[in-house]
Amino acid sequence: MMTSTLPLISRISTPCKHLGAPGPDRQGLLSLLAEAVHVPDHGRLRPWRFILIEGDARARIGEILFRRVQEAVPEASATRLEKERTRFSFAPCIVAVVLNPVKGHKVPEIEQVLSAGAVCMNLLHAAHQAGFGAQWLTGFAAYDRDVLAAVGLSADESLIGYIHIGARTEAPCERERPDPTALLTVAPP
Ligand SMILES: Cc1cc2nc3c(=O)[nH]c(=O)nc-3n(C[C@H](O)[C@H](O)[C@H](O)COP(=O)(O)O)c2cc1C
Repeated sequence: MMTSTLPLISRISTPCKHLGAPGPDRQGLLSLLAEAVHVPDHGRLRPWRFILIEGDARARIGEILFRRVQEAVPEASATRLEKERTRFSFAPCIVAVVLNPVKGHKVPEIEQVLSAGAVCMNLLHAAHQAGFGAQWLTGFAAYDRDVLAAVGLSADESLIGYIHIGARTEAPCERERPDPTALLTVAPP
């Protein structure tokens, strides 16, 4: 069995503002995505796909996000607006994980959503194993149809996560994790 030099327990999110170049090159990204799709997928529906946001697309989407938050949240502070404008500008590689659900299938949609969530988690782990920092983000950009259309989603698709991937420009601080013993009970025999 292959042993990992980076155990999963060492994974930690790096805030996207602490990510920069270099990110994975195209071949490296495809390797990460190959790991990402090794998920349980009830019915083999493959109800997910990826959209890569890189280069100038990041600033374009940031501007649209800024405009949409300005329109939809008139009380948004200048700090919030600036955060939205720059959100996509730090990591060199952002993968939008898209749910393209199979409607009316006997596999309930919640299971398809869970499978797409597993893709996101696998992608975080794959990035970690490859030595990159990464963060799973959603926020306004994940739910506004105008922003989603600008990213490339169709009206019947949902955004499960933007996975920001890059080199760490600052080391993230570890935070307290739940104690599994406190979470575990044993079902009566
Ligand atoms: C579905 C999902 C959406 C998230 N969206 C955001 C977000 O929009 N903004 C944010 O600050 N953190 C968000 N997070 C949390 C971060 O991805 C991350 O969990 C957090 O930075 C803590 O880091 P950790 O992964 O080391 O626990 C989200 C997490 C999940 C699972």
